[in-house]
Amino acid sequence: MTYDPAKDGAESYNAALKAIRMQKIRDGEIIPIVREVTIGNCRLIQGDCIEVMETLGKVDAVVTDPPYGLMGAATEKNSYKTFNDNPETVKSLVCSVLKWGKFDRLVMTPGQNMMFKYPEPSAVGVFYYPAGTGSCSWGFVGWQPIYYYGKDPILQDGRGRASNSFYATDSAEKNGHPCPKPIKQWQRLLARSTRVSETILDPFMGSGTTLVACAKMGRSGIGIELDPDYFDIACERVRKAYEQPDFFVASPEPKPVQEELL
Ligand SMILES: C[S@@+](CC[C@H](N)C(=O)[O-])C[C@H]1O[C@@H](n2cnc3c(N)ncnc32)[C@H](O)[C@@H]1O
Repeated sequence: MTYDPAKDGAESYNAALKAIRMQKIRDGEIIPIVREVTIGNCRLIQGDCIEVMETLGKVDAVVTDPPYGLMGAATEKNSYKTFNDNPETVKSLVCSVLKWGKFDRLVMTPGQNMMFKYPEPSAVGVFYYPAGTGSCSWGFVGWQPIYYYGKDPILQDGRGRASNSFYATDSAEKNGHPCPKPIKQWQRLLARSTRVSETILDPFMGSGTTLVACAKMGRSGIGIELDPDYFDIACERVRKAYEQPDFFVASPEPKPVQEELL
C-alpha cells in the first residue's frame, strides 16, 4: 500500500474535522437536529442519524431499513434525492449505528447487495417474495434478508419459538419516497421483534413506515431522516396514522373496577 499525500492527507483532515464535530455534539456545543416534530408517541427528527444519535439515550430496539448501496444499479426513479447511495458510505453508516449500541435489539433489512459487509448477526430471516423484487445476474430476486442482533423478545418472554421469516405479498404505497416498505409487512416485523410500549428507533426513517407501524401498534417511535422532503412525507403519514387507528390492533383494556358487594 502506498501513501498518496493528496488523497490520504485530505481523508485524515476530514476525519479529524469529523471527530472534532462529534465531540462538540457530545458536549452539547452543536445541536445536529435540523427540525423536530412530535406526533402522539412518535418523535421525528430531520438530520444526519450518526450525529443525532449522539444526543439520544438508550432505546429498546432499533428497527430499520438502511440504504442498499445500489449506486450505479439504481435508476433515476428509485435513487435518493440527497443521499449518495455508495456501498462504502452505507457500510460505514450502518456499522456506526451498530457500534452506537444503545439498544437491546437491532433488526434491519440490509439488502442482498450489502448483506456480506456487516458484522455477523445473531439470526437471519427473510422476506420471501413469490413474485420477485427485481432482477440480478441470476434471474429474479425472490427474497431479501432480515438481520437480527441481540435476543429474541418472544423467547425471552417465554412465549415459545416464532418464525423469523415472512411471506411478503403486499406492495408498498406510492408516497413520493423511492423505496418505501409495505406497511403490513413492516407491522409483522415489528410484532415479531418488539413489545407493546417499547421505544423503537429508526435512524433511516425514509417516508416513516416504522413510525406509522409504531403509531398503529402502541409503540413509541423515534425516526431520523436526512432528506427534508422525505421527512415531510413521514410527518404527514404519522399524523394520518394517529387519525385512523388500526381496527386490527386492540385498544388498551379498561382497568378492572371493584364491584360493590350486595
Ligand atoms: C431504504 S430508505 C428507508 C425507506 C423506509 N423504510 C420507508 O419505508 O420509507 C433509507 C433512507 O435513509 C436515508 N438516509 C441516508 N443516510 C442517512 C443519514 N445519514 N441519516 C438519516 N437518514 C439517512 C435516505 O435518505 C433514505 O430515505
